Formats: sequence, C-alpha cells, structure tokens
Amino acid sequence: VPRTCSAPPLTVPEVVAHRGATAAAPEHTLAAYRQAAAVGADAVECDVRLTRDGVLVCVHDRQIRRTSNGRGIVSALHLAELEQFQFGARRPRGRNRWADDEILSITDEPDVENGLVLTLDRLLAYITATPGSLRLAIETKHPTRHTRKVEEALVDCLRRYGLLGNGRPVEWAGKPAVRMMSFSQLAVRRMAELAPAVPTVQLIGKRLRPVRRELLTGSASAVGPGMALIRSDPEFVAEAHAAGKEVHVWTVNRTADMDLVRDLGVDAVITDHPDELLRRLGRD
Ligand code: G3P
Ligand code: CA
Repeated sequence: VPRTCSAPPLTVPEVVAHRGATAAAPEHTLAAYRQAAAVGADAVECDVRLTRDGVLVCVHDRQIRRTSNGRGIVSALHLAELEQFQFGARRPRGRNRWADDEILSITDEPDVENGLVLTLDRLLAYITATPGSLRLAIETKHPTRHTRKVEEALVDCLRRYGLLGNGRPVEWAGKPAVRMMSFSQLAVRRMAELAPAVPTVQLIGKRLRPVRRELLTGSASAVGPGMALIRSDPEFVAEAHAAGKEVHVWTVNRTADMDLVRDLGVDAVITDHPDELLRRLGRD
C-alpha cells in the first residue's frame, strides 16, 4: 500500500535514463547518453538488436524507419548497410507510419562517427571511458532470426570491456555496473547460464497476474513491471521485495508517477526525464 505519511522513502531509487535522456536528445544516440551523464543520472538504458552479420546495435524498433533516414529491418541488414543511413531522427510520437518528409529533426552530432547507428561496442567504450559515471541496463530484443544468438553476442561484448565479472558482478559505487533485461523469460534464463555474474531483470508488460508466481521465483535478480501495472497493483512492490527481488519500473514520465514509485520504495526508475526525476528525489 502506498505510504501517505511523510516518512522517508524505503529506498532511494536509481535514476535510469531511458534510451539516454530522450526528452533532450534523440534516443540511442551518444548525445542522449552524454546528456544523461550531464544531468546526473545514475544509469542508462539501451535496447540492443543483432544485425544480420552478428553485431549488436542500439535500436529499439524492429525496423529503422522511425529513428533514421533509411528503411529496413535491423536483423536483415548488415552493419555496413545500416551505416549507409543517418540515425538520430525524431518523428511525431504515437504514429506507426510517416511520410518521408516527416523527420522533425535529425541530430547533427549523435555520435562521434557522425550519425552512424550506435553500436553496443561504441556505447560500452563511452561508458567504460569513465568507469562509475553511468551504469548500464541493456535490454535484448529478439527477432526470430537471432533467437539464440543475442545473449551470446552480448556476453562477448561485455567480456571485451571487462564487464562480465568473475563470480560477482563488476561494481561501480557499490552497485552492478551492468545488467541485462528482457521481456523474454527464455532470454533471461539463457543470460543467467552464460553470464551468472551479470544481474538480470525480468521485464513484464501487461499481464502481471498470470505470471506473478513465476516472476517472483525465477532466476532474475529484479523484476521490471511497466508503470501501468504499478498504478493498478502497487502492492506488487512489497511482494517482490519480500521475495528478494529488486523492482525496476519503466517508463515513468509523469510527475505523479515519479512520486508514487518514490513513495513505494522501488529500486530503479527508468525515465525519459532523468532531470525531473532527480528533482523530485531532491537530488538536483
Ligand atoms: O526498460 C524497459 C522498457 O524500456 C521497455 O519498453 O518499449 O521502451 O523497450 P521499451
Ligand atoms: Ca527498452
């Protein structure tokens, strides 16, 4: 039950910038990740997909149309083909189709490689250049073509940057430097097998009730419910904590929701507005 008195929150949640600070800069660009660091976010979230030639790139959608000036399906394109397009496009929100001239803006400096799609390698190079400044929550997306390969590629990538850990997670400021998240229970289990020292977050979208028991007993160290679930079922936070799971809530953009999750004592809050969340936590 949400606490209504003025007692201090149970936990100070980690502030996680969703796809970078996406209210301030185009999603999944280094500009958005730099902005997250500039406002003082604790961590950043990114979505990763595998290209046809097995490279992890930070792209949310199955297709590249919304966030670039190109067209095509990420998993069907080689990295060199993706690199022919400019990424960092913004288009009107809440639409599935756009006319070709509906790019609202295309950032002129999304990446040091001048608009190339952001690879996970490049993001990890940025993050590990100043260890401790930003932690990273990586969400794997799974088209059928690559079902079994995404976590293997992720593990390779983390190993190259010294982030796999050895029995224990690599920690920055007392918290794991990196974690893996997925809506797929299979992907979370596979990651736990391949890289047991990397914490995992079992994301959950719309149907909490049928999977509640499974969520709370699964291998993930945290559960990641959407904000709508927390609004309708705030008791879930205490229940997850009692089961030994952290609670990482996404994507919390309204100020009333920020206050609710703060008062419920969740462990991490994923938001497009890390600056506003930091203000509401008294950390600005
Ligand atoms: O952090 C989880 C959240 O990012 C899931 O939603 O669609 O933004 O990937 P989506
Ligand atoms: Ca995501």
